[in-house]
Amino acid sequence: MTDIFHDIEKAEIEHRLQFDQLVEVLTSSMSHQALCQAADRVRSRFVGSDVYLRGLIEFSNRCQNNCLYCGLRKDNKRVKRYHLSIDEIVECAQIAKMYGYQTVVLQSGEDPVNEPYYPVDTMVQIIQKIKAFDLAVTLSLGEKTYEEYKAYKEAGADRYLLRIETTNKDLYHRLDPGMSWENRHRCLIDLRKLDYEVGSGVMVGLPGQTPEDIANDILFFKEMDFDMIGIGPFIPHPDTPLKNASRDHFELSLRAMALTRLLLPDINIPATTAMETLCPNGRVIALESGANVVMPNVTGIHRKHYEIYPNKAGSRGGSLILKEEVSRQILEIGRTIGTVKGFRGDFLGSQNHF
Ligand code: 5AD
Ligand code: SF4
Repeated sequence: MTDIFHDIEKAEIEHRLQFDQLVEVLTSSMSHQALCQAADRVRSRFVGSDVYLRGLIEFSNRCQNNCLYCGLRKDNKRVKRYHLSIDEIVECAQIAKMYGYQTVVLQSGEDPVNEPYYPVDTMVQIIQKIKAFDLAVTLSLGEKTYEEYKAYKEAGADRYLLRIETTNKDLYHRLDPGMSWENRHRCLIDLRKLDYEVGSGVMVGLPGQTPEDIANDILFFKEMDFDMIGIGPFIPHPDTPLKNASRDHFELSLRAMALTRLLLPDINIPATTAMETLCPNGRVIALESGANVVMPNVTGIHRKHYEIYPNKAGSRGGSLILKEEVSRQILEIGRTIGTVKGFRGDFLGSQNHF
């Protein structure tokens, strides 16, 4: 047991762990607290006390995919589908700007390729209009071609989020019918080539996922040298094939997140909405275990229909209430809100990125 504590101490200094050590730390509830505290210290040392707020705009819940875990999957006919107009999206961005957020995250289900609601020129227009507010633009639109990613980048997009979901390819192909892990990987490589700041991440607690898979996920993050990693517990949705799967994965996700902070000390790590949904005070616990970003929703009245999983935190109540709640939580734990003028919380670690 002392070995585990020693491994954590070593990782805090050297930012390295072997596969076996990762598995051991992930599965030890005994060293949970020591791990989270070490991650908190590394976060403080490398990225400081600022917490960056990104305004999340969930602009369309239409999706061409059928991921078994997700409430927005194509075959879920109980979802009320919506898609915001260009003007509505730009209005959400304006609200984010008014709240002092310096980044907006444009997120949607994967727009149907055959009948797109947001063809490339529409996305380009949206990005250009939002860039006029001097906001950083993060996209999270799923898998696209190199040319599409290039067009968004040229329109001014700064960052792209695409979770790999799991590095276990068999598991991925079981849970994401019709999709290809290799193509998702290709997308992440293309985004890197195009000089986006790239965010990825995984879910923790997927049925059939092992601690070894999660250890591999963390090693993959390091190998790919991502700028941001989002890790959230899998939460079963009642209208999906995985409705009866277990949902008690908060602590394991927290350990995966804390280990990610130890191994990639200078990246951005969000306190994910899934963590806040599963555990009262989950956001604060995540912020004290390695996280330094929060993405409050600014979508407006449609947000309740963006139900990836049930009872999503922040999906009721207004975006102003959410902003105030998040700001209060940050200040209460002695942290600061990252709104320093002229600095948007870009990734600090590499000379190549801003
Ligand atoms: N529980 C938790 N996270 C989920 N996601 C999709 N479905 C679920 C679920 N049931 C995550 C995926 C996706 C992100 C937008 O939401 O990781 O990339
Ligand atoms: Fe679509 Fe993303 Fe949900 Fe999969 S996880 S069904 S791609 S919205």
